[in-house]
Amino acid sequence: MNPTVSTLTLDRRDEALDLADRAFDDTPRDYFERHQSADPSWDVAQSLVVEDAGAIVGQLWIADRTMRYGIARTRFGGIADVAVDPAHRNRGHARRLLDAAVEQMRANDQPLSLLSTGTPTVYASRGWHAVPTARLQAEFPGGDIEWAGGYVVRPFEARDLPAVAGIYADIAADRVGPLERSEAYWLAMMDWLQRLRPGTQVHFDVLVQVRTVVAYAITELSDDEMTILDGGVQYENLAIPLLNVWRARAAERGVSRLTGELHPASELFDLLRKRADATLEPARHYMVRLNSLHGALESVVPELIRRRRRMAPLPGPPFALNVDGEAARIETPLANVIIGEPDGSEPVVELTSGQFLDLYLGLPGGYEALDGLDIPPHVDVYLRRLFPNSPFMYWNADRF
Ligand SMILES: CC(C)(COP(=O)(O)OP(=O)(O)OC[C@H]1O[C@@H](n2cnc3c(N)ncnc32)[C@H](O)[C@@H]1OP(=O)(O)O)[C@@H](O)C(=O)NCCC(=O)NCCS
Repeated sequence: MNPTVSTLTLDRRDEALDLADRAFDDTPRDYFERHQSADPSWDVAQSLVVEDAGAIVGQLWIADRTMRYGIARTRFGGIADVAVDPAHRNRGHARRLLDAAVEQMRANDQPLSLLSTGTPTVYASRGWHAVPTARLQAEFPGGDIEWAGGYVVRPFEARDLPAVAGIYADIAADRVGPLERSEAYWLAMMDWLQRLRPGTQVHFDVLVQVRTVVAYAITELSDDEMTILDGGVQYENLAIPLLNVWRARAAERGVSRLTGELHPASELFDLLRKRADATLEPARHYMVRLNSLHGALESVVPELIRRRRRMAPLPGPPFALNVDGEAARIETPLANVIIGEPDGSEPVVELTSGQFLDLYLGLPGGYEALDGLDIPPHVDVYLRRLFPNSPFMYWNADRF
């Protein structure tokens, strides 16, 4: 019988978790269980399984998440826990699962998909594109790390949540990429992060000044390095007490290396650059897929309206985007942006989904694509104003 893909049901969940456990060498079964069950929007039907001769031989989970896009929000499917039984690999099972996942995401109004992977080629062949991010390389400095004092670093407590969420929202404001995190999601994140790598310590620290939480950080300490998973630091100097605590903690384990993924324009990176000679190197494990052009554009209309109010208030020319065969008309009458169907009268800008996603996410590849195309100048200007370069931002703590 041919292998078949279907949605997982509760009665076979243990079988799917056992399979994930077999497929990943270093990740415990407990992690997969909590990663899914603890997620506030989890449903067993978000997992797809491939069966061969009655046995589950592959599975993946489509986490239902929402990305911040300036003032807008867009839903996406976060592809996680992709696992094929070691005895059944290289028979196209991952491919079958991913194709079915795209169908499911389209049916569920998830216009985008995001994932993080060590094997990008598996996903590139099914339509995902790399999103360049930046990985920190640093060594903890020796000697005194001078600072003004008056701050206390202590472990996060549930009552800190509103303050922590407020700092997160301030840092994420205006950015494209950070996830929308509900209070339940914050707590769930701490549940699964603790279980991902046995033997590592995950710390959720808050920085307190006169009883007010003014910064936070989530880090993971192994025998080799300390990794920043999320850094809620809005002002450079607030990172100094954290750096002191991290260094002392790392030293107890004989660790001097500091890593993580940081936004190049973040205050935290600025401080680490000055105090820990930190540099950033490119990373390409994060990937994005366009499931629906109309969906992707319509979900971010509030932000597009805001951008044009700031940068292009007068009505612009209607034009159409044609992205790998799906076309959408963009009309910009006064104080509005309307996404519709092309009527054939407007200029058409042809983009591949990779080029469109670069433009949409504010990545440098977007403008490089526009530079290489023969677009009517008034449309080109408008496109650049609607989609300014605004480097994508994400935190490793949001695993999926
Ligand atoms: C990665 C994994 C899911 C692939 O499953 P699979 O069923 O063997 O993959 P498929 O046979 O469907 O192959 C799909 C494509 O990916 C390629 N591919 C498969 N495994 C690959 C690997 N480890 N590295 C690079 N490419 C790979 C195949 O050549 C194929 O390419 P094509 O479509 O151009 O022919 C499986 O090896 C696995 O479970 N690994 C351990 C867990 C893991 O790493 N999961 C992914 C975490 S993001």
